[in-house]
Amino acid sequence: MAVTYNPQTKQFHLRAGKASYVMQLFRSGYLAHIYWGKAVRDVRGERRFSRLDRAFSPNLAPSDRTFSLDTLPQEYPAYGNTDFRSPAYQVQLENGSTVTDLRYKTHRIYKGKPRLNGLPATYVEHEQEAETLEIVLGDALIGLEVTLQYTAYEKWNVITRAARFENKGGERLKLLRALSMSVDFPTADYDWIHLPGAWGRERWIERRPLVTGVQAAESRRGASSHQQNPFIALVAKNADEHQGEVYGFSFVYSGNFLAQVEVDQFHTARVSMGINPFDFTWLLQPGESFQTPEVVMVYSDQGLNGMSQTYHELYRTRLARGAFRDRERPILINNWEATYFDFNEEKLVNIAKTAAKLGIELFVLDDGWFGERDDDRRSLGDWIVNRRKLPNGLDGLAKQVNELGLQFGLWVEPEMVSPNSELYRKHPDWCLHVPNRPRSEGRNQLVLDYSREDVCDYIIETISNVLASAPITYVKWDMNRHMTEIGSAALPPERQRETAHRYMLGLYRVMDEMTSRFPHILFESCSGGGGRFDPGMLYYMPQTWTSDNTDAVSRLKIQYGTSLVYPISAMGAHVSAVPNHQVGRVASLKTRGHVAMSGNFGYELDITKLTETEKQMIKQQVAFYKDVRRLVQFGTFYRLLSPFEGNEAAWMFVSADRSEALVAYFRVLAEANAPLSYLRLKGLDPNQDYEIEGLGVYGGDELMYAGVALPYRSGDFISMMWRLKAVQR
Ligand code: GLA
Repeated sequence: MAVTYNPQTKQFHLRAGKASYVMQLFRSGYLAHIYWGKAVRDVRGERRFSRLDRAFSPNLAPSDRTFSLDTLPQEYPAYGNTDFRSPAYQVQLENGSTVTDLRYKTHRIYKGKPRLNGLPATYVEHEQEAETLEIVLGDALIGLEVTLQYTAYEKWNVITRAARFENKGGERLKLLRALSMSVDFPTADYDWIHLPGAWGRERWIERRPLVTGVQAAESRRGASSHQQNPFIALVAKNADEHQGEVYGFSFVYSGNFLAQVEVDQFHTARVSMGINPFDFTWLLQPGESFQTPEVVMVYSDQGLNGMSQTYHELYRTRLARGAFRDRERPILINNWEATYFDFNEEKLVNIAKTAAKLGIELFVLDDGWFGERDDDRRSLGDWIVNRRKLPNGLDGLAKQVNELGLQFGLWVEPEMVSPNSELYRKHPDWCLHVPNRPRSEGRNQLVLDYSREDVCDYIIETISNVLASAPITYVKWDMNRHMTEIGSAALPPERQRETAHRYMLGLYRVMDEMTSRFPHILFESCSGGGGRFDPGMLYYMPQTWTSDNTDAVSRLKIQYGTSLVYPISAMGAHVSAVPNHQVGRVASLKTRGHVAMSGNFGYELDITKLTETEKQMIKQQVAFYKDVRRLVQFGTFYRLLSPFEGNEAAWMFVSADRSEALVAYFRVLAEANAPLSYLRLKGLDPNQDYEIEGLGVYGGDELMYAGVALPYRSGDFISMMWRLKAVQR
């Protein structure tokens, strides 16, 4: 059984895959955290924390100076009654006080995993896949109930957590903080990893030792953001890509978040994660409830690769949904970097014609097809085709593209409005804003107020009409600025600080509706590249445009960092022109191809302008990718050499039965008289022989333990890709 409760010891034991997670009730119902790690049969709870009279750690009962919440490892800590560390939640009462006291009331264990109302979350397809534990805590004085929701997956070392607040009392409560989880580690002998970045260089890996005090990754931008990602990990000092203990925390949410580790005076580490309490409150009237989003916690004793492989499999198969979840994704050509706003039907059809000859499967029309959109200063919100550019409309263009044998895809940015648009002139109060203050613009646009039901309904109808107007089978859903002056004309003063979260709830409703109305459309999310590459988005849209930076060398870090959490099938990667538009670098078509083929493959350049030789090479790349696509998109991914640590990068994909693999190696700068490099492969069958195209036959054991010597090549930005196939020697 995955979840048990022992009434003698008052212990809850969750077994998830090969991991154990143990909690215990102490005193009059305080829920303590006892253990999380490699599976154990039993843990003696009272030995897991100090029972000492600690100076300046006050006591709940004066008779026992050894019991303080300040030294008790906890599951959902409160503020104000002896614990001075960061609380998981805080509630304000009508009398102004902010002290609450949650104690155990009851619990329930059942098979399966419930949906989280209105929120994205991992799921099960059969009840047997997971077991759920709900622990109800209550504050008797005010009638507040908090249900801690835990699900343990059978197959993976995965535990998901969330919390639901219910006001069962008679007074108005205000949530000032409502995180999804908190867990106390007995020591702080870990490094922590997070994925900071910026536009064009998203999700770089930073690994630092934990230090006393608070360290955090967070967003206050109204989106999960390029600047931080809703993910952190605690990593044992001796752990690396391939071995050692790692604890991952990934937040299934696309808005403001907080991911924090607090190391206290006794060198314990408290990890907390949830909606960012900054500028957040939520009014809970009597009878109302509030559901937090979900945190997915992964334990690995196989290093970072072990953690990532668990996230990849879980997110690919039990977070992403829809018809495309398990389907190979089409190789696309996108016109953005080929034309920007400057196109007409003829130009687009010519690109599609060339693409068809090269074997590309999907043509995507990017920004600029609607309203008066000849630059980025106007027309967002006016989703009416521009007949000057496209005299035959979307339908006319799509039909021509279809006749060439390509599918047709379209870019939209439905969360935005340009001040210079018909929509804004008609509904100036439909954007986020606060009374009597200027409305700051980003890329000359404002953010539509998705906390409003009427705005969401309007967008659902408007975008539905566009999508139904032509044979569209792919949509790129973009979002190109962050939120400022966050407020809603439709909310009362006491609910203004709910706007950012209500926006996310509105957005999730819109996305749910759009994806169920158009189940035959493959949706790709985007936010100026990877500004909203998060699990929340992946629930609705199974792939994301990884970064606006398409340079092959920059992409080594971006894709390597992204792969820490997100599956390869989710990672859009395109070959673009040289000199590269973002960094000016000139990398060979081969290297650009190898980097992009390590993700969800496509092209984004004017292929009509290429030489015959280049076109032939693209044709070969496309044919090759079709051959390895299943392996890349659905195989097991191993990171081998980190671009953050040296001049090289390498990774590989292995099929489930280990009969096939694909290895990619990259060297950034050439070195004179360089030492020989060996690359040790992973995940192969040691007893099997493999043929590497062009290099001969090797044992799986030799490839993994002795490694393969890399043939020397001169030049900067070089790459190699090897295909391995099991053979009989
Ligand atoms: C964003 C996207 C790009 C492109 C432009 C169009 O920046 O990330 O890929 O679609 O918008 O304006």
